Amino acid sequence: MYSEKVMDHFMNPRNVGEIPDADGVGTVGNPVCGDLMTVYIKVKDNRLEDVKFKTFGCGAAIATSSMITELAKGKTIEEALKITRGDVADNLGGLPPIKMHCSNLAADALNAAIKDYLKKKEANK
Ligand code: FES
Repeated sequence: MYSEKVMDHFMNPRNVGEIPDADGVGTVGNPVCGDLMTVYIKVKDNRLEDVKFKTFGCGAAIATSSMITELAKGKTIEEALKITRGDVADNLGGLPPIKMHCSNLAADALNAAIKDYLKKKEANK
């Protein structure tokens, strides 16, 4: 079943919402179940100053989104890019095998948001 940490992040998700003037936005869908997740990032001095998410998905998807915002906040762009799908599940004390695909969304959405930020930065040079 779910670990206590998963339940905690599902019942009290951290950093839910949008960042209206986000520097990067990443939306990914889960092909397995059709769920959707969007991650918003605000960057200052090459660090993720703020990270928020909106998830239309299962409990595990909500818990992993919440966890990734905590993992990513305060990290440099380079460090945040290194957060893997496995890191998210590990920090939650594991996920049931059938729910592992849900944790992929969070890492992928964060990655997409950072790529969006880097693309915009490049375009504004
Ligand atoms: Fe869709 Fe978990 S069942 S993300």
